[in-house]
Amino acid sequence: MNGVGFVGAGKMVSAIVKSLLHSSSFRKNELICCSANDGTSEKLSEETGIQRADCLEEMLETSPELLVLGCKPQQLAELPLHASDATAGMMILSIMAGITLERLEAVFPKARNLVRSMPNTPGQIGEGVTGYLFAQSPLPEDAQLIEKVLSSLGDAYVVGIESDIDRVTAISGSGPAYLFEFACALEKAAIDIGLDPGVAEKLSRQTIVGAAKLIESSGLHPEELRNQVTSPNGTTQAALESFSSSQLREIVTKAAMAAKNRSIELSNA
Ligand SMILES: NC(=O)c1ccc[n+]([C@@H]2O[C@H](COP(=O)([O-])OP(=O)(O)OC[C@H]3O[C@@H](n4cnc5c(N)ncnc54)[C@H](OP(=O)(O)O)[C@@H]3O)[C@@H](O)[C@H]2O)c1
Repeated sequence: MNGVGFVGAGKMVSAIVKSLLHSSSFRKNELICCSANDGTSEKLSEETGIQRADCLEEMLETSPELLVLGCKPQQLAELPLHASDATAGMMILSIMAGITLERLEAVFPKARNLVRSMPNTPGQIGEGVTGYLFAQSPLPEDAQLIEKVLSSLGDAYVVGIESDIDRVTAISGSGPAYLFEFACALEKAAIDIGLDPGVAEKLSRQTIVGAAKLIESSGLHPEELRNQVTSPNGTTQAALESFSSSQLREIVTKAAMAAKNRSIELSNA
């Protein structure tokens, strides 16, 4: 078949498949998926027209050139053990959080090469950012193939060492949730200072969306954009001074450290 086989057909795999088809990187008949028994592969196949297999063994019989591991990390142990023989010579790309290259190599000892990656949820709308690395130095065509698949989720960067994946997890992997939490905090603040809850929700949501789009469209560093809206002795300055005295930046660094340490713990579990 020479295309891509997806183990799992949930949110992230659906995002990759839809983007690969949308960008005409692959044709429908070059993509195949399988799932457990909750009907996700049936749904993805119906929605997109890609092929599906009833199980991993059946999918591997089609000899995809690349196998994408898109099930949950805890589901890796449930994959049929003889998968290792059927994956001899294949490229394998894992998007599973916390599964190390060493662990992947143990499960797929005969793979041509392995990639560990850490995407994030905005990948579901093509606005993600992914950090990844290869187990072995890749052939140019393998590097191209992986770049093509991961860039369907948004930006994709090769990291230097595997421990960087824990850092990527702490910044871009968990980062969207930090922004969502900030949006909740802004909404609460709006209510606390007296706005109607419905208006509070709309104002805080659009402020986050608008500010993010401004970062993107202006190309300016966020610090510069912040300075542009901060007049001396003005309202924004009053709020920023309050952030500073509450050590907002230290709070964010501490949170990222906690996420990184948890990522290390999960990878070693
Ligand atoms: N969501 C994110 O933003 C995000 C970010 C970074 C990394 N990731 C990683 O991406 C992976 C997928 O996440 P997700 O949110 O897309 O999960 P999800 O929506 O729950 O999808 C998981 C998929 O795996 C399938 N599956 C389970 N056991 C299987 C088996 N034995 N063989 C084949 N398929 C099996 C499930 O099938 P059924 O539905 O039939 O059970 C489902 O299609 C995870 O490893 C996660 O760590 C996700």
